[in-house]
Amino acid sequence: MPPPFQSHVFVCTNRRPDGNPKGCCASKGAEEVRAAFKAELDKRGVKGRMRANAAGCLDTCSFGVSVVVYPEGTWYGGVKVEDVPEIVEEHLMQGRPVARLVMPFARKEKAES
Ligand code: FES
Repeated sequence: MPPPFQSHVFVCTNRRPDGNPKGCCASKGAEEVRAAFKAELDKRGVKGRMRANAAGCLDTCSFGVSVVVYPEGTWYGGVKVEDVPEIVEEHLMQGRPVARLVMPFARKEKAES
């Protein structure tokens, strides 16, 4: 099935040089997080419906590893490999975003809407 996907996950894998004050998601394990999303989606046989892609800087560096899920536009921060099965099961499969991982600014926006 061609895009649009039912769920499209973007994982920032941007890398900056060591010592850069902004830091980067790559130094926090972003490639491993991306690989975990791909493996989890493969395991569930949802290829063509759900997809995980590497992304450049999502401009939320201090919250990295940064992940955004569309079409909802849910922003996750501090994502670790061990969080990936929960995001896939709860959010992508069951439609319930994982509140404890939602970035603070996104929580505020959701609360006001
Ligand atoms: S480096 Fe990942 S959001 Fe900027």
